[in-house]
Amino acid sequence: MTAVDEIKSRLDIVDIVSETVKLRHTGKNYTGFCPFHTNTKTPAFVVFPDTQTWRCFGQCNDGGDLFNFVMKREGWDFPEALRRLAERAGVTLEEFTPEQQEKVEENEHLREILSMAVTFFQHQLRNTQQGKSALDYLYNRKLTDETIDTFGLGYAPDSWDSLANYLRSREISEEDLLAAGLVSTRDRGGIYDRFRHRLMIPIRDPRGRMVGFGGRVLRADDVPKYLNSPKTEIFDKGRLLYGLDMAKREIRSKDQVVIVEGYLDVIGPYQAGFQNCVSPMGTALTEDQFRLVKRYSRKIVLALDPDAAGQKATLRGLQTARQTIEREGDVVFDARGLMQVEGRLRADIRVTTLPDGLDPDEIALDDPDRWADLVEHAKPVVIHVMETLAAREDIDDPKTKEEIANQVLPLIEDIKGSVEREAYRQRLARILKVDERALVRRFSGEVPRRRRNYHPKPEIPPASSTSTPTNHRRLEETCIKALAYDPTLVYYIDKAFRGFELACLHPDDFTHTDFKELFKLIKEGLEQDSEEPLVFIRERMPEALVETFLDQPVNEDYPDWRLQSNSPILEALLKQFIRLRRVRIDEGLEQIIFLQTQGAEQGEETETPLDFNKIAMEYAQVRAKLDHALRQSFFHDKPKS
Ligand code: UTP
Ligand code: MN
Repeated sequence: MTAVDEIKSRLDIVDIVSETVKLRHTGKNYTGFCPFHTNTKTPAFVVFPDTQTWRCFGQCNDGGDLFNFVMKREGWDFPEALRRLAERAGVTLEEFTPEQQEKVEENEHLREILSMAVTFFQHQLRNTQQGKSALDYLYNRKLTDETIDTFGLGYAPDSWDSLANYLRSREISEEDLLAAGLVSTRDRGGIYDRFRHRLMIPIRDPRGRMVGFGGRVLRADDVPKYLNSPKTEIFDKGRLLYGLDMAKREIRSKDQVVIVEGYLDVIGPYQAGFQNCVSPMGTALTEDQFRLVKRYSRKIVLALDPDAAGQKATLRGLQTARQTIEREGDVVFDARGLMQVEGRLRADIRVTTLPDGLDPDEIALDDPDRWADLVEHAKPVVIHVMETLAAREDIDDPKTKEEIANQVLPLIEDIKGSVEREAYRQRLARILKVDERALVRRFSGEVPRRRRNYHPKPEIPPASSTSTPTNHRRLEETCIKALAYDPTLVYYIDKAFRGFELACLHPDDFTHTDFKELFKLIKEGLEQDSEEPLVFIRERMPEALVETFLDQPVNEDYPDWRLQSNSPILEALLKQFIRLRRVRIDEGLEQIIFLQTQGAEQGEETETPLDFNKIAMEYAQVRAKLDHALRQSFFHDKPKS
């Protein structure tokens, strides 16, 4: 349950509205004078406790839920409304407590300090005698001035206090220097520069904001070879990937990300024109890192070290990738079980085998074609894993066999073609020297156990489902999730809607303010063209929406409906959106009927006379169109309007 759900379950819209509007109980609803436009004659403002919604049928012709009511009343934006209502409902929010607001500002300050340090290190690199040695080192590694500047590379002087002194002279406190991870404390008090005589590599978050540094030794016997910023409020190397800020655009457009070992393996290929590389920072790949990267592409190539340790790391990485992707891999739009077949591993993970002793940076800079070739011929995980396993010596140990089977069988299951799948199973049986039938039995026994960990699949409410607020929210959720997965879906839905002479999708198709806001952001994302819509959306999503967005696990593993021309998936989706609109229309009709009876009872003169019959007729017409559309089978008969 998101905070929004929680708040809605604890607060009653009638109470909140009553604070400023005198409400009269009429039937099962409440009426009053609309607080948003001046009126004295007709109580055109209605609160519907059943659905926890409100609507002004007068001049405003607006309505919604608790959230947009208080937003309108108080002039708050959604984050503020969320904060205030959460407080009122006694719901703890992860974001936006005052303390956390303070944190946000402090973190901003830390980023500024780090940016000042970047400038300082760059100056040292370019304008000092010592820096010259670092610059020569970079030239030796075939990096150009342009690349050096693009990545903001710099030099930390061989001194205990030059950075600290520089920043202190610019009124940065010692406390902040520590918090930024730029200095360490002495046992007997005082501070000293953490990075000394090192090549400095600025590390930024995906939005390009400074978060930390990696520092490479320049003297062969200094240790460690790479010193990173310590964990700080803004730097957690397990949750970041180096170079993603630079690479994200290319990752999107190439629809491929290459994960390499280290900093210079990102920078070298970048200069050579391969700008889709990112790297972890000296640690095994984490779930967070996979989650981060698959926002931009699900086609992942691992180009990690070929040595034994590297192999192990690669396998661990694969394991992690699987877990990450599998856990989020539930299939949401499971209309008629179709998706179950499609819902296998939704990432394409491949592994390159790098030539012994060569790093991506050397290969890419010396022989770009070779690099391109290596990436292109990266092998699917299952093949890589089996080849690695075949080389293991302890394969005769039954425990090992068991372990390997557990690891490889799920990978085999992910393969789409049944013939191919069978071939791999046979191959595995040969490697393990077991009877293949044992694997098959094991394998089919595995499925239910694995499935149990899946998120329950939200059910698609049937067209005639009893309308409850929960059902409605779920339907809205299904729809917004699909749009958040692929914003361009809006175009398809709109096109289909136009075909049925229906109005295009509109924020008002969603009653829940969090979904409404997300929809607006999605539309905005589509209307701009400076960034990929999805990237635009994710980067601009107010923090208050992130939770809603994440809690309803945005199903990135959702099969690509565009690839199937006769798509039953697309059809199932379209129908969801038609139902979404129909719920709105049904509500509208019900409300009008309610008003009609009220109006008749009150017998008052209306100040802005509403032609109930006309409105009801309009609603009914739209409803008929929707029902017609729901009966269509889009991809078999051509819809007739
Ligand atoms: P390597 O030791 O394999 O170095 O570390 P490298 O990438 O080949 O570096 P060059 O080419 O000699 O300069 C690989 C990566 O692991 C991280 C760094 O990101 C490094 O680029 N690392 C390594 C650390 O963060 N800390 C360490 O102590 C070592
Ligand atoms: Mn290297």
